[in-house]
Amino acid sequence: MTQLTLQGKTAVLTGASRGIGKAVADALVARGANVVIGDLLDKEGQALVDGYNSTEKRAAYIHSDATRYSDIVALFQLAEKEFGGVDIAVLNAGIISHSNNLFGPFDDVGDEKMMQVNVNSVIKGTKVAVLHMARRGGGVIVSTASMAGLYSSALELAPYTASKHAVVGHTRSFDLLPAVCNVRVNCVCPYWVETDLLTYLKDGETQNPFDTLVTHSPRTKVQTVVEAFITLIEDDTRKGETLLALPDGIKVHDRPTGYQSTAIDPPHVQEYVKTNVAFMKAQLAEALKRYDQA
Ligand SMILES: NC(=O)c1ccc[n+]([C@@H]2O[C@H](COP(=O)([O-])OP(=O)(O)OC[C@H]3O[C@@H](n4cnc5c(N)ncnc54)[C@H](O)[C@@H]3O)[C@@H](O)[C@H]2O)c1
Repeated sequence: MTQLTLQGKTAVLTGASRGIGKAVADALVARGANVVIGDLLDKEGQALVDGYNSTEKRAAYIHSDATRYSDIVALFQLAEKEFGGVDIAVLNAGIISHSNNLFGPFDDVGDEKMMQVNVNSVIKGTKVAVLHMARRGGGVIVSTASMAGLYSSALELAPYTASKHAVVGHTRSFDLLPAVCNVRVNCVCPYWVETDLLTYLKDGETQNPFDTLVTHSPRTKVQTVVEAFITLIEDDTRKGETLLALPDGIKVHDRPTGYQSTAIDPPHVQEYVKTNVAFMKAQLAEALKRYDQA
């Protein structure tokens, strides 16, 4: 294993004006990295960055909606302009909804928002990050999933659980990427962490059994979540890995093995793996040309 030195590296973080993202940004800055933060909470994000920059230029902030390509590109371009490139992407922006979702009104916009923010921000953020990192010779992407991304969860959390399962599945799709462009993709699955996010679980009207469940559930310390992020960033053997951040510490979540069968691992799958790296390298070169011309 070689340890990535964070000193002088540059990280882009989505949704880091507060909460878990802010705590990860604090840890990166403390280890000598520069950070570029995109969020919707401009006052908080700018104040955070001003604090990091109190003695020297270490950080930048931009209003950036993590669900929109134009905003994501602007975030990465700011990192290029200020610090010369991007080595680390923390795709952390996320939302949760109040607990009466299932029996709420049919609401196309509202009901699609969970997937829009929690899933699309990760898919789009990964696409932009890979181009920036490939040009620099490599990098690491860590997304924030959740324990709800691995296990069935409360009835009230169904859309959130679906969105975080998607983030875990997305992370586990990049086994070939290190061979294509030296980019590693990992995710962290925290259990409940005491942040502002939890306030959105309350529907503001009645105390309900789900509120009571959340109130009585143990919490993961934010420092445990940060430690999981730093491990996945620094340790270059971590590729496609899912780390659980639990109230009693960090654990690796191994991929399920029960489905394995010779019927779904025939020679043509091995052939795909063998030939796809060269094919993907050619596709990446085309994508970089397109990106440069845009
Ligand atoms: N707090 C928990 O218990 C917990 C547990 C597991 C996973 N998570 C995940 O951790 C991540 C961070 O959550 P948190 O607990 O720090 O919550 P938080 O609400 O404190 O922070 C979320 C941040 O994301 C930002 N954000 C939301 N939508 C955005 C968008 N479209 N574009 C840019 N920024 C956006 C918010 O403004 C905020 O700064 C989320 O993905 C969440 O799902 C949280």
